[in-house]
Amino acid sequence: MRIGVAKEIKTHEYRVALTPAGARELVQKGHDVLLEASAGEGSAFADTDYERAGARIVSLDAVWEQSELLLKVKEPVAEEYPRLREGLVLFTYLHIAADEPLTRALVDSGITAVAYETVETDDRKLPLLAPMSEIAGKIAAQAGAYFLEKPLGGRGLLLGGVPGVTPGRVLVIGGGIVGYNASIIAIGLGAQVTILDRSIDRMRYLDEILSGRVSTEMSSALQIEASIADADVVIGAVLVPGARAPKLVTRAMLGVMKKGAVIVDVAIDQGGCVETARPTTHDDPVYSVDGITHYCVANMPGAVPITSTKALTNATLPYVEEIADHGIREAVVRDQALARGVNVVDGKITYRAVAEAHGLEYAPLEDVWPLAPV
Ligand SMILES: NC(=O)c1ccc[n+]([C@@H]2O[C@H](COP(=O)([O-])OP(=O)(O)OC[C@H]3O[C@@H](n4cnc5c(N)ncnc54)[C@H](O)[C@@H]3O)[C@@H](O)[C@H]2O)c1
Repeated sequence: MRIGVAKEIKTHEYRVALTPAGARELVQKGHDVLLEASAGEGSAFADTDYERAGARIVSLDAVWEQSELLLKVKEPVAEEYPRLREGLVLFTYLHIAADEPLTRALVDSGITAVAYETVETDDRKLPLLAPMSEIAGKIAAQAGAYFLEKPLGGRGLLLGGVPGVTPGRVLVIGGGIVGYNASIIAIGLGAQVTILDRSIDRMRYLDEILSGRVSTEMSSALQIEASIADADVVIGAVLVPGARAPKLVTRAMLGVMKKGAVIVDVAIDQGGCVETARPTTHDDPVYSVDGITHYCVANMPGAVPITSTKALTNATLPYVEEIADHGIREAVVRDQALARGVNVVDGKITYRAVAEAHGLEYAPLEDVWPLAPV
């Protein structure tokens, strides 16, 4: 298959959808890899790295026109809409339930659009979102520690303490992938860490693997209010699948917090779990409300493209190989997780939540492509 890798043109998007190592794997299997010139630059991969791996460097026009499968990281932006076409399979983060113009552009073009974020295994895991949650969690603890410094508007506290001086306290609300990774870094820095979650099974698991190095508490409004008063850093990491994040930290609760404490609301991409949170960017990541620093960057992994690109492509490559080896129609028959990733086919919306979000007709994938049993 001819597999193209387009350069990202969204502001501050430095990731690329395939590493030279991934290109090499695909070329070895007999596929043709076309890379748009300088697509890997933001992630510290030169065109020559890809050429050595067997890829061909091509122009912007060529990558869109000649590819059968096009790999990207972010959704197409308006200037890319005219390039969408029938016969092309696009594999990327799409998030189209919140983007009507793009949904219409995909439907009108006849393209097959497969979304990273809706690839879902039978045990309800989201393998192409998990690596970004791991990275965001780790950044969250680092950012919390950093913005506690006095010149940056923080309390002026070293999170890890020193011998003879008590370390700071980190409160993690939501002990999923983000929460676990934030906790690992916070523990590593020497902080005292408490995780609040609603799932006893999840807290049992965290307690076991973190060997008692964190305290866990059942999450409730009362508990959050009590724990937040002691916290130097609060990390919001909740997720209610398919819904906006619940507002667990209210403005009134800021009043009981220590001045100069830091809130990192990682759930901001789902609306945020802190009432006073609003999305910020890496250019201007923090603002203060009632003396509390808020860090609410909506695309935290974008700050570390070298790590993010590798982590993302580690997770996407097996699916890319399935599509390349078998073609998309057979690949979705072989792999239900990939089938759940298909959002748009032949002008029809095959992902229920997307159709419902825009009041458009939903066409189950098995009606559009009758799925023969493997
Ligand atoms: N800002 C970014 O750059 C960025 C990057 C990656 C992920 N995220 C976001 O981070 C959030 C967490 O993602 P994740 O992958 O860790 O999800 P996850 O599903 O692995 O974990 C979410 C956890 O929240 C818990 N939870 C649900 N309701 C709760 C409540 N009321 N109180 C306490 N805990 C509660 C769940 O039990 C679960 O353990 C999501 O909103 C995700 O979109 C943001």
